[in-house]
This record gives sequence, structure tokens and C-alpha cells, in this order.
Amino acid sequence: MTELTLRGVSVALGRGDARTPVLHAVDATCAPGVLTALVGPSGSGKSTLLAVAGALLRPDEGRVLLGTTDLAALGDAERAGVRRERIGYMFQSGNLLTGLTAVEQLLAAASVAGRPARRLRAAAEHALTEVGLTHRLHHRADRLSGGERQRVALARALFLEPDLLLIDEPTAAVDRSQAAALTTLIATTAQRRHCAALVATHDPIVADAAGATIAMAGL
Ligand SMILES: Nc1ncnc2c1ncn2[C@@H]1O[C@H](COP(=O)(O)OP(=O)(O)O)[C@@H](O)[C@H]1O
Ligand SMILES: [Mg+2]
Repeated sequence: MTELTLRGVSVALGRGDARTPVLHAVDATCAPGVLTALVGPSGSGKSTLLAVAGALLRPDEGRVLLGTTDLAALGDAERAGVRRERIGYMFQSGNLLTGLTAVEQLLAAASVAGRPARRLRAAAEHALTEVGLTHRLHHRADRLSGGERQRVALARALFLEPDLLLIDEPTAAVDRSQAAALTTLIATTAQRRHCAALVATHDPIVADAAGATIAMAGL
């Protein structure tokens, strides 16, 4: 059961005269088993905060604690290890590999993370069953609906059992009924896995279903 805690996190982006503060002394907590909505107007820094929480971007100041590990204090190799071992990512469009089937999407991700994909086929099928895709295991990504693609992306993000799930605007490209079902699925899965789930969104469906909220005010 691992909590994510941000303490005094500040980030400026851009170079030289274009350098702009994006996050200013942000404090936030994301509890295990809970869907936490990260809300705020466009440009308020939601995606930047996800990048910091995901060890993709090092903050200029502050601490980013995943359990007892401060991601902001790690070197590049250790950060890569944390990303691979402890964090699952899911972005707006799903970012699936077009030519691969649903099962293959999960196995490809496992393979990149250095896991023996061959032995994980049954586990991949199980993970896809967990997100309601038993009937789509061997469909290619380009034959799936928008909502189905997001479910594959969710299963892939959860496949290696991360401590933290980071999700950016999951419902932006799906219809309203799919958005509600997908949101419920994210919330129930995070709860069952005891995994902290931080979801950047401006969709009221997601915000209303969240167990906690972090509001970005913008600068
Ligand atoms: N690489 C960058 N260089 C300079 N400014 C950036 C860069 N990336 C994002 N920004 C700026 O940071 C702010 C926050 O962006 P972002 O985190 O994407 O917000 P949100 O996800 O809430 O829409 C925006 O004003 C954006 O223009
Ligand atoms: Mg964004």
C-alpha cells in the first residue's frame, strides 16, 4: 500500500526568456486504493504534475515521495527503474501499437520492462478479462472502439502491478456512456489493487466519481 505525496513541488518550463513557472510549491497526496481527480483549467499544469509524479520530469524544487522513495532525488537510471517497476501510465488516446492485438499490447509492454513475455500470456488474458475485454483478446487495436482501446490501455498500465497509476484525460476521446463505464472501471480496479490512481481530467463524470480531488488553480 503505497501513497504518493508531493511537498513544495515547483517546476518552470521553457528556456531562457521563455521560461515560465508552471507548478508553484504544490502540496498534494494521493492515497492507495483511491481514484484522485486532478482538476483545473487547461494550462493549469495537470499534465506537468503527472510527469513529475511519474518520474518523467524532475521538479526544480520539492519532494515527490512514492512511499518512502523521493523520486526528485534519484538519478536517471534509478528513475527509469521506478518508472518501469512501480508506475503504470495511461494517456488520452491510449497510445496503443496499431498492428498488435490486445494481448500483444500487454506482452509488448512486459517485454520492454524486461519480463519474459512468453510466460505472461495467461496473465495478460486475465488482465484483459478484468477490464471486460474477454471477447476482444485477439482483436487488433485498430479494430477496437475508442472505449475498448482505453480499456486495453488500462489493463496494460496495471499489468505489471504498479504502486501508482497515472492517467491523463482518459475520457477525452470516448462517448459519454463509455466515459462513465471507464471511470467506474478505473475506480474499482484501483480499489481492488490498492493502487493509487491520479487522474487528470476536466470531465465532470470523472471528477464526480473520484474519492478525492486535487485542484490546480493555475498561476
Ligand atoms: N515544454 C514546455 N515549455 C514551456 N511551457 C510549457 C511546456 N509544456 C507545457 N508548458 C506550459 O505549461 C503550462 C501547463 O501545461 P500542462 O501541464 O500541459 O497543463 P494542463 O495539462 O493542465 O492543460 C501551460 O501554460 C503550457 O503552455
Ligand atoms: Mg494536460
